[in-house]
Amino acid sequence: MARKKIALIGSGMIGGTLAHIAAREEMGDVVLFDIAEGVAKGKALDIAEASPVFGKDSNLKGAADYAAIAGADVCIVTAGVPRKPGMSRDDLLGINLKVMKAVGEGIKKHAPDAFVICITNPLDAMVWALREFSGLPHNKVVGMAGVLDSARFRWFLAEEFGVSVEDVTAFVMGGHGDTMVPLLRYSTVAGIPVPDMVEMGWSTTETMDAIVQRTRSGGGEIVQLLGTGSAYYAPAESAIAMAKSYLNDKKRILPCAAHLTGQFGVDDLYVGVPVVIGAGGVEKIVEISLNADEQTMFDNSVDSVKGLVEACKGLEPSLA
Ligand code: APR
Repeated sequence: MARKKIALIGSGMIGGTLAHIAAREEMGDVVLFDIAEGVAKGKALDIAEASPVFGKDSNLKGAADYAAIAGADVCIVTAGVPRKPGMSRDDLLGINLKVMKAVGEGIKKHAPDAFVICITNPLDAMVWALREFSGLPHNKVVGMAGVLDSARFRWFLAEEFGVSVEDVTAFVMGGHGDTMVPLLRYSTVAGIPVPDMVEMGWSTTETMDAIVQRTRSGGGEIVQLLGTGSAYYAPAESAIAMAKSYLNDKKRILPCAAHLTGQFGVDDLYVGVPVVIGAGGVEKIVEISLNADEQTMFDNSVDSVKGLVEACKGLEPSLA
């Protein structure tokens, strides 16, 4: 069987990390695409030259021509600009919307059968616009945010409880911004709901509230520390988990920005919800029940995503 082909559109910090992981895990052949052709080619060659040492085989190549992504099984999109300290994800909207147009048209022409994972921010609006520009089926275009946000949540919880990250599961729903909704009630330690852990005296409600807040601003914390650019290791790992679930038909339940058609009271919008990812792309949306407080927080988050999508429509007439 021919190797799978993974196209990385954007070869910056996240794109390069994705290429490294995909090659190390022998997920398939890798194409790094970027308008900065030298960066794409340089990273492809650098990782190829590392491959004899880590002992895995895949073709890696860099390109600035969309023809290179032809026949890709998975496209992971990070093209665009990241945040600088003091910026919100929403500040990136105008410039990254133009990038999504070019990327969407490139995918439509050269890789219309791919499973597309968008990472570019502001995520929920960019994945919506990318889907519109590409014209691909909604179940084949998805946004990476929830896996990352819940990974941050899991790490903070594991640290607080002093237990393995492997035993902590957590859910974050809603948009990938300050209004995201980390759900303590659906987060567990080896199957024990987090509120029960608090009741057993493992932590306090105040600490849990602080962890929820830290999760919401987790991306900003990294932006502040780095000073130049935003997080890339955890975003790359998160997108790889989604790509593997698709390529291996694992049917993992992962929180992703998915197209809603009435679920959770939302229509024709991409928002973070739990989904099943398998060979069919987004195969199912898991409609968990929310209590009144959770629904209010979710609705608030949906409203902010709606505002961003409206802003996209204002900037790009073909989307209106
Ligand atoms: N087509 C292809 N590549 C592009 C285009 C374009 N039209 N415009 C910009 N790029 C490339 C840049 O040349 C750069 O190499 O996208 C890459 C982005 O890489 P970084 O600046 O290193 O950003 P990164 O940290 O990888 O984040 C990318 O993901 O998490 C989000 O907010 C983040 O929107 C940002 C994106």
